[in-house]
Amino acid sequence: MIFNASGCLDAFQAPEVARALDVFVTKTVTPLPREGNRPVRIAETEAGMLNSIGLENPGIEAFLAEKLPRLAELGVPLWVSVGAFASSDYAEVCAALDDSPHVVSIELNLSCPNVEEAPESASEIVHAARRQSRKTLYAKLSPAAADLPETARAVQAAGADGLTLVNTMRGLALDDGTLQPRLGRETGGYSGPGLKPIALAAVYQCYRATGMPIVGMGGISTGRDALEFLAAGAASIALGTILFSDPDAPGRVRRELADELASRGLSTAEEATGLAHAPRPVTVA
Ligand SMILES: Cc1cc2nc3c(=O)[nH]c(=O)nc-3n(C[C@H](O)[C@H](O)[C@H](O)COP(=O)(O)O)c2cc1C
Repeated sequence: MIFNASGCLDAFQAPEVARALDVFVTKTVTPLPREGNRPVRIAETEAGMLNSIGLENPGIEAFLAEKLPRLAELGVPLWVSVGAFASSDYAEVCAALDDSPHVVSIELNLSCPNVEEAPESASEIVHAARRQSRKTLYAKLSPAAADLPETARAVQAAGADGLTLVNTMRGLALDDGTLQPRLGRETGGYSGPGLKPIALAAVYQCYRATGMPIVGMGGISTGRDALEFLAAGAASIALGTILFSDPDAPGRVRRELADELASRGLSTAEEATGLAHAPRPVTVA
């Protein structure tokens, strides 16, 4: 299945792109409205881009009243990305979403600024959310966690149903002339093709550590990239940065992936999931 990465597609501006997906994931919603960071918020850089949007969103109340009913009209299954700064706030947003028939799953964005990446903290949040939610819960982790497989095991034990891997990595871009940071907030989240090997390693290691269903993302721009994420252990893939330059990416990547699978004699994406973990053939010298 092909998802968008949270924050990388405005479904109201480009509903036809959202409809080309199997699942639409919202931008992260927080308990209260957030204006986001000061401009400049986006900078193109080598092999990807930096962003420092800062979780700009209207807050859960306005999201439920104004955005969710319109998103439901898309007719695409909806996942809501939830962010906060304390486990009780995550739980509150999850509770507010629990009765909505439009929300299929919740993606807990555990990679927000000021949210500790330590396994205890991530698992505390998942645990609190689990108590308030009957929805499927996916934990979205940062590839910068000190011990990512350990964090993955901790959120699994706390009640997560799956993992979303990965969020951006902190990066910096300097202006050619002034040598000052190009982003208003100085550093930002690095995404795009340069993130792919890091994201693949995260998927590979967490699949091995937990066996959980994984939505894989990080620099996917072709069907070949998608195939590699499946082989590393992803059950589904998400498109992020590529959507800014190629809005037709969902359909294109879907076709390219089908060709990649067929050329290997595979008929479904499920058959590709985890192939990188198969025992290596023994070669005799
Ligand atoms: C402009 C922009 C905004 C983003 N906003 C969010 C967000 O609100 N919540 C979130 O969990 N991830 C957010 N992300 C991270 C993406 O969902 C994704 O994890 C990351 O970009 C890696 O995938 P990619 O390399 O395909 O872009 C954002 C990324 C970008 C580029």
